[in-house]
This record gives sequence, C-alpha cells and structure tokens, in this order.
Amino acid sequence: MIAPSILSADFARLADEAAAVEGSDWLHVDVMDAHFVPNLTLGLPVVESLLKATDIPLDCHLMIENPGRWAPPYAEAGAHNVTFHAEATDDPRSVARDIRAAGGKAGLSVKPGTPIEPYLEILKDFDTLLVMSVEPGFGGQSFMPEVLEKARAVRKLVDSGELKLLVEIDGGINTATVEQAAEAGIDCFVAGSAVYGTADPAEAVRSLRTQAAKASPHLTIAN
Ligand code: DX5
Ligand code: ZN
Repeated sequence: MIAPSILSADFARLADEAAAVEGSDWLHVDVMDAHFVPNLTLGLPVVESLLKATDIPLDCHLMIENPGRWAPPYAEAGAHNVTFHAEATDDPRSVARDIRAAGGKAGLSVKPGTPIEPYLEILKDFDTLLVMSVEPGFGGQSFMPEVLEKARAVRKLVDSGELKLLVEIDGGINTATVEQAAEAGIDCFVAGSAVYGTADPAEAVRSLRTQAAKASPHLTIAN
C-alpha cells in the first residue's frame, strides 16, 4: 500500500492534490499542533472538507498532545485510520478504544528513538503500527534505516499470527529507500516529497508500489 502525504502538496489546492494521486490506497494527512512537534499544519475542519473532496480513505497521523481528547473526532468525521503517538499519552489503549468506538481504525506511532518492546503487548488493540523513520515534524528529511529493526520485530509477530495489524512506515521513503523498507516487512509506505515533489504524482505512486511489491518478502505482484 502507498499513502501519499499531503504535507508536501499545495495546501491551497488540496482537492486537486488528492485527485492527482487517485488510485492510492490511503491519503496520509499530517496533523501537527506546534506542541508535540514544532510545526503546525491543519486540523479537523480541513479533514472534514477533504473527506468531501476525495474517495481515497484518509490516514490521519496526529502529531499532537492530548490525543485522548482530540483523536476520536477524526474517526467520527469519517477518517479511515486515526494514528496518534505513543509518546503523547499514558493510556494508549483507551485512546484506541475510543477511536474504534467512533468507527475508525486505530493506529499507534512511535518516534525513531522510542523502543517498541514496551508496546508489543498493547498492539493487539490496534489496527496499524506507524514506525517513524524521521523525527516527526517536517517532510523531506533523510530515512533512518535503524528503525527497520522495530518493523522486523513486529512483522515476525504478525507472520506468526500473534498480532494482526498493518505495519506502516513514514519519513524519507523514496525510490532509493522503499526496497529496504519492503524487505523488512512493511505493508504501507507513506511518501510525501517523493510523490508531490515530482511532475507526475500518480506515476510516482505506481512506481513506488511496483518497487515495494517486488522487494516484499510476503507479497506477490498483482500487475
Ligand atoms: C513527517 C510526516 C510525514 C511527512 C513525510 O513528520 O509525518 O508524513 O510528510 O515526508 P517525506 O516523505 O518527504 O519524508
Ligand atoms: Zn506522517
């Protein structure tokens, strides 16, 4: 799965930018509050408008404080997947429960320096694990390959049937890095600058998908 990140799109033309990546599996929406991360992007009103403007399922990545208060409304509004950060709450399970009760899929994200072991037990209450491969806050940063260890560890648990969840990666994914991430067992690849920084975003999505599928140990190519 490929999830183009609109962080690298033109914010004044979001409906057109969503249409430009038609055929993508998810549209990744980075919500930043200038507290959990130093940057500020967009919030619920923009997501509500975007939901009316596109049929691509929205993958909301909340880089915000107090997700217990702010995350469930994104699911209520109709976002497909609502991911918040493990570092932002003491009670990730109850936030996941509230997101699911509001009709969304629940995602847990970990920053590059956050170990995964303390969270393995609660991952059964989640639909997605989002492994950050850059420090959250900005697009266009360099991929950190060391985070793939976490993806491999969780992949093993998924393959053995102990966990049932989708493993997603975010940050620095492009034609030079997508294969190593696929080899580590990633299911869903977020790409911002590698999609919207090109002349043909839809073609960039297709070629990233083909490259990822070829390198993936657990997938066969559909086309
Ligand atoms: C960074 C965001 C990413 C960002 C990725 O904090 O979470 O989703 O858009 O951008 P690229 O793909 O350019 O690294
Ligand atoms: Zn993101």
